[in-house]
Amino acid sequence: MVSEKDFIANNLNATIENGSFQWSAPSNIALVKYWGKKENQIPANPSVSFTLNHCKTITKLAFSKRNIFHEASGKLTTTDKEFSFDLLFEGKPKEEFKPKIQKFFERIVLYCPYLKEYHFTIDTENTFPHSSGIASSASGMAALSMNIMSLEKALHPTMTDAYFFQKASFLARLGSGSACRSVKGSVVVWGKHAEIENSSDLFGVEFPSSIHENFKNYQDTILLVDKGEKQVSSTVGHDLMHNHPFAEQRFAQAHHNLSAVKTVLESGNLDGFIKIVESEALTLHAMMMTSLPYFILIKPNTLEIINRIWKFRNETKTPLCFTLDAGANVHVLYPENVRESVLQFIKGELVGYCQNGTYICDAIGFGAIEIK
Ligand code: DP6
Repeated sequence: MVSEKDFIANNLNATIENGSFQWSAPSNIALVKYWGKKENQIPANPSVSFTLNHCKTITKLAFSKRNIFHEASGKLTTTDKEFSFDLLFEGKPKEEFKPKIQKFFERIVLYCPYLKEYHFTIDTENTFPHSSGIASSASGMAALSMNIMSLEKALHPTMTDAYFFQKASFLARLGSGSACRSVKGSVVVWGKHAEIENSSDLFGVEFPSSIHENFKNYQDTILLVDKGEKQVSSTVGHDLMHNHPFAEQRFAQAHHNLSAVKTVLESGNLDGFIKIVESEALTLHAMMMTSLPYFILIKPNTLEIINRIWKFRNETKTPLCFTLDAGANVHVLYPENVRESVLQFIKGELVGYCQNGTYICDAIGFGAIEIK
């Protein structure tokens, strides 16, 4: 079994003075939700997600070897106690984002000791509007981790692709749990599960069996109900599951739902898919409503949308369903062959409930891509 030790970089036999890499990494939408974690970003239950295609972060990492004069010894060295980096968002310095990156570097330096030998310029942008309420932590941490692995591969050129992607997911997890599911596509499982071979709490793995035609190019239209700042940070959110009265049942349910979703993805059972996915979304919010402190993150318009989706589904037998993140926005999931009629329904009946009528059309994607 792969353990944390396997991700400590050694055999770095090449040297590289400076250069740059650029990667894009997509967002993902969980079908079975990660909600609750232990020390070191270990999930309390396994989760599974669709990787998205259009909502992504593009990050360029430029690096140059440091030259630091140590007064005490009178020597020049390339390492220091501190990390050295500049952070640009859409080309402009963004101080507010730096503490998150600092913390990420602190968490991963044990596995990437070479980080202290370089000065970095991290230049990042998203394809979706920043204040859209779409979390950029998954795509952002995944894109940065891909770049760091490109640097590590330059220092260790014989590294295999399998190790490259596995460690990228491992690093991304340490930045933000759900980010480990954004490295690959199109369906990724994170967290040890009895029926998913090679599944691990340490990194995401591609869904091991083949996925039924019904789910190929599955659509996700994201309805932006509330673009406000997150009411509950993910740290606070996951903490709510400590001493939660229903925690154990919830974690057991996630294992069960993952088994069920596995069968559904293999067989193409859309009704089964809808039941599990909607139940997972509502359970996530039920957990928030029944924790102490408690939160209601859905808005009246979220409920209006859900009710309209149910009515439309009943009347037309169109197999669309919704899921939610830890916020008010609604992800509408549906097969590609009903795209026209669902988009017509969204434009006709749902846009009125979106802030400024905004929604984003996305679909299942294949993970991070290097931009050369
Ligand atoms: C509700 O991955 O944002 O979207 O590990 O603290 O960064 P951290 O949390 P994060 O949590 C995502 C929670 C969720 C469900 C999911 O994506 O599985």
